[in-house]
Amino acid sequence: MSEESMYEKMKAKLANVVPDVELRYKAELAEEIMRLKKERNAVILAHAYMEPALYHSVPDFTGDSLGLSRDAAGVDADIIVFCGVRFMAETAKILNPRRTVLIPSPRAGCSLAESITADDVRALKARYPGVPVVTYVNTYAEVKAESDICCTSSNAAAVVRSLKSDKVIFLPDEYLAKNVARETGKRIILPTLHPRKNPPPDSGVEYEMIGWKGRCEVHERFIVDDVKNARKQFPDVLVLAHPECSPAVVKAADYSGSTTAMVRYVRASNAKRFLLLTECSMGENIAAENPDKEMIRICSIRCPHMNEITLEDTLESLRQTRYVVEVPEDIRVRALKAVERMIAIG
Ligand code: 13P
Ligand code: SF4
Repeated sequence: MSEESMYEKMKAKLANVVPDVELRYKAELAEEIMRLKKERNAVILAHAYMEPALYHSVPDFTGDSLGLSRDAAGVDADIIVFCGVRFMAETAKILNPRRTVLIPSPRAGCSLAESITADDVRALKARYPGVPVVTYVNTYAEVKAESDICCTSSNAAAVVRSLKSDKVIFLPDEYLAKNVARETGKRIILPTLHPRKNPPPDSGVEYEMIGWKGRCEVHERFIVDDVKNARKQFPDVLVLAHPECSPAVVKAADYSGSTTAMVRYVRASNAKRFLLLTECSMGENIAAENPDKEMIRICSIRCPHMNEITLEDTLESLRQTRYVVEVPEDIRVRALKAVERMIAIG
């Protein structure tokens, strides 16, 4: 593809989202990435939170955590460049270890993945013996390796329902756990490391889900007033909240679902205006695909980790074969079981 046609392709989608002068510069980068992808026999997977110029130019696959995991498993190219955060790139390596997996920035972490260690999971298993452990994919491989099954935001309730157990340990996102508890009708407790002698009535012994105190540093900052204010200003607005938002925010919203579920919801809806309570870039990506619909977004709240990944870094990643994601084999094979079990549920 010529430089002009990459620019034209991007302009067709992004003219109202990215200023033209920036678009021309980004199209040059994208053009070079496309050339290198062919030369290196590489594919690019990109999460829905990538900046619009990246998301709408170089990826072979785009989607949410679950969709990208499935896509990664089927890749037969030599190199996978994962434009997303580290836990996602690790999941790709877990599922497809013969490929070289690259992440464009070594700083693309995640507050949820940082919130829990394998030792924490082992301690919980010792405290609640025999209770199955469901782990959100937003965790590192060592934590997945200690788990029975993983889940993403799009299949968390289905995963919990699939377990033939009246109790589950659900880690590490406190809000996702509470939202799933509400959806599946289960009671949840958040254990402290030192159990109280006299637990308060609401966290007594009749729990069915055991959670953890992890939070997404982006979604935890949306509040019910954001929803109320948007409804006051735009009475026709439909509010979409990611399940990493607090249960109060999810309850106040019209719809809650994974990033791909939100994309599909907007596409299928006849409404003209949406408030997206999730990473701001995603609003821009959806706006680019739905020019007749308005996306209201709160761009003062950004994911610093997802924002680490740029077209510039992606280009350097391919040029220099950096940064290679490795998972020790003994951890990988244990983590694989939990991830494959999740994928089988869908
Ligand atoms: P999804 O699985 O919905 O894409 O979410 C991933 C994520 O990190 C959201 O913050
Ligand atoms: Fe992690 Fe939240 Fe960023 Fe998603 S948005 S990568 S959960 S910090």
